[in-house]
Amino acid sequence: DEALQIRASLLEWYDNNQRDLPWRRISSSSSCGFKEEDDDDEREKRGYAVWVSEVMLQQTRVSTVIDYFNRWMNKWPTLHHLAQASLEEVNEMWAGLGYYRRARFLLEGAKEVVEQGGTFPETVSDLRNIKGIGEYTAGAISSIAFKKAVPVVDGNVVRVISRLKAISANPKDAATVKKIWKLAGQLVDPFRPGDFNQALMELGATLCSLSNPGCAACPISAQCHALSLSRQNESVHVTDY
Ligand code: ADE
Repeated sequence: DEALQIRASLLEWYDNNQRDLPWRRISSSSSCGFKEEDDDDEREKRGYAVWVSEVMLQQTRVSTVIDYFNRWMNKWPTLHHLAQASLEEVNEMWAGLGYYRRARFLLEGAKEVVEQGGTFPETVSDLRNIKGIGEYTAGAISSIAFKKAVPVVDGNVVRVISRLKAISANPKDAATVKKIWKLAGQLVDPFRPGDFNQALMELGATLCSLSNPGCAACPISAQCHALSLSRQNESVHVTDY
């Protein structure tokens, strides 16, 4: 069916086109290893790397985030290192990224997880109990670091799914966004959820752009309802949210 074709085509495109990003090396490090064993340190390392990268990516483009991410991980290689940092140090490291509240939430969240002393949370509902972690960050950590089949919806995904399903509702409406979260949840690949979610975001950031979408090169153009209706350029699909 359509979802199966979308998953297969999108993942194949992602396998051939994904960027080599520092947090991807960490978050996928166990999936290509030889041992099944997945100890708490490895799990925490993946969760932490995805957490830091996704919070940075929420307001900043990938090319800028790379340097910030590498500097951050150099200074605080693990969640436990970060939990020992001061707010001043964290703000200094964040300088230029803006929205300093997010840096503070990261620090407070790291302290919270370390103080609770258990294993790094893996599910959306457990992750959402951490201060500063919303639906987006929880979905990203859960799917990318822990392979849970949960959706991740950012502005790019809203646009991709709006086009894919020819949704002509205002993407700024809460009801529209809710509907898109639901559709994304039905679409997510159950076997490679983290790659699928990143592929959707990456497609939106590259080919399925706000204006002049590159439909000719799009791996899921055959499944795109907006394209089949010649509505890929309709204003409602190109509204950022
Ligand atoms: N934008 C935000 N997070 C992303 C990710 N993990 N991959 C690609 N684009 C993103």
